[in-house]
Amino acid sequence: MSREDFRLPKVLRGRLLWFTADPIEAGERAQHYFEDGALVVEGGYVRRAGEAGPLLASLRPETPVEDHRPHLIMPGFIDPHIHFPQTQVIASFGAQLLEWLQKYTFVEEQRYSDPAHCARNARFFFDELLRNGTTTAVAFCSVHPESVDAFFAESARRNTLMVAGKVLMDRNAPEGLRDTPERGYAETKVLIEKWHKRGRQLYAIAPRFAISSTEAQLEAAGALAREHKDCHIETHLSENEAEIAVVRQLFPWSRDYTDVYAHYGLLGPKTLLGHCIHLSSRERSVLADAGSVAVFCPTSNLFIGSGLFDWRATREAGMRIGLGTDIGGGTSYSMLRTAAEAYKVLQLQRQNLAAAQAFHAITRGNAEALGLEGLIGSFEPGRACDAVVLDATATPAMRHRMETARTLNEELFILMTMGSDRNVAATYVMGEKVQGSREPSAPKAVVRA
Ligand code: GUN
Ligand code: ZN
Repeated sequence: MSREDFRLPKVLRGRLLWFTADPIEAGERAQHYFEDGALVVEGGYVRRAGEAGPLLASLRPETPVEDHRPHLIMPGFIDPHIHFPQTQVIASFGAQLLEWLQKYTFVEEQRYSDPAHCARNARFFFDELLRNGTTTAVAFCSVHPESVDAFFAESARRNTLMVAGKVLMDRNAPEGLRDTPERGYAETKVLIEKWHKRGRQLYAIAPRFAISSTEAQLEAAGALAREHKDCHIETHLSENEAEIAVVRQLFPWSRDYTDVYAHYGLLGPKTLLGHCIHLSSRERSVLADAGSVAVFCPTSNLFIGSGLFDWRATREAGMRIGLGTDIGGGTSYSMLRTAAEAYKVLQLQRQNLAAAQAFHAITRGNAEALGLEGLIGSFEPGRACDAVVLDATATPAMRHRMETARTLNEELFILMTMGSDRNVAATYVMGEKVQGSREPSAPKAVVRA
């Protein structure tokens, strides 16, 4: 396809749904739904979105239409916490966090010193994300710069918007996974120079967690954060009780775990903190003041036995929340499965996660958590056309259950409770179909044919 063809408008038609705010807070006006909707896409961006009839009538008759009716078309899912080198750690038996890291994760991540291994697994990783309808992720790579190069090269090839970084780790890990404060700093600088804002790629400074960095390295991470204010910071906080006890021993001067990151200047509105399960009210209030984001990773929290994330207390403290998979502690790449497990974690605490709230969370909500709502997460004009097409009747059990569904809300709740990769009929990146039937869907209808 020539550049000129790419700029010509085309239309995606289907049941369009997107959010512009959290429906729990903003009510009806947060949700935009068109039973027969059309997305007008130009140069990969949404130009207009709304009722198909008038939109189609306003376009030239030869405008191609990719017709997905009766499926739902939503903004592509966003996963704000995932580990690229853990695709073969997922489903490792019988350990909680610290043992799980030593026994499985740190063994596996050493394989990422090999660029060929990185490249092969990057291809798998992106195939798998897109198969699940996830078009943006915030990823930890391994300590090796090669893993970051392979990750971003694959993302650039696919034109996906990704946020990622090399983990900084210089203690409490095998030698093959340790850098030094100086080397970690220097390698991160080179990677930022090479990848940050190259096309759609964004860099995240990534001190793995307090236990695996010396004070000198956390200081270097703080310097990187000061020198690159437009980079995200990704790390882990307060996931597991044994972890918190070790942090207390390693940083005896700190008031608590959060205080360690605060001390080194690592907390701000671009900071994404995986887990945040066992926080005190003091910590929540510090994090709320900093504008940092707690990323709730339910399948991981259940699988590694870390604990139950308290959504209500986190929100009431004024903190921002993201919802992520945490592969390979997490057990599914699917943001639908992730939403299902989030619902169950909240049920155990007599809290709720309504379907609209969950779909907001995995699209617009996570875009806001990344501060990228101007680029992705909705179909407002000017956003990238990263989209997922969902079929709520993709399995016999779902088709059977859907026979009794009467409302969009019921359909969404069935999708999140029973759904998985099987419900993803197609995925679009910048207006191009990257997943679904091999052929880009032949125009089934032509405007005003
Ligand atoms: N804490 C530090 N590293 C990790 C990791 O790889 N996974 C999880 N779940 N927690 C961590
Ligand atoms: Zn993690």
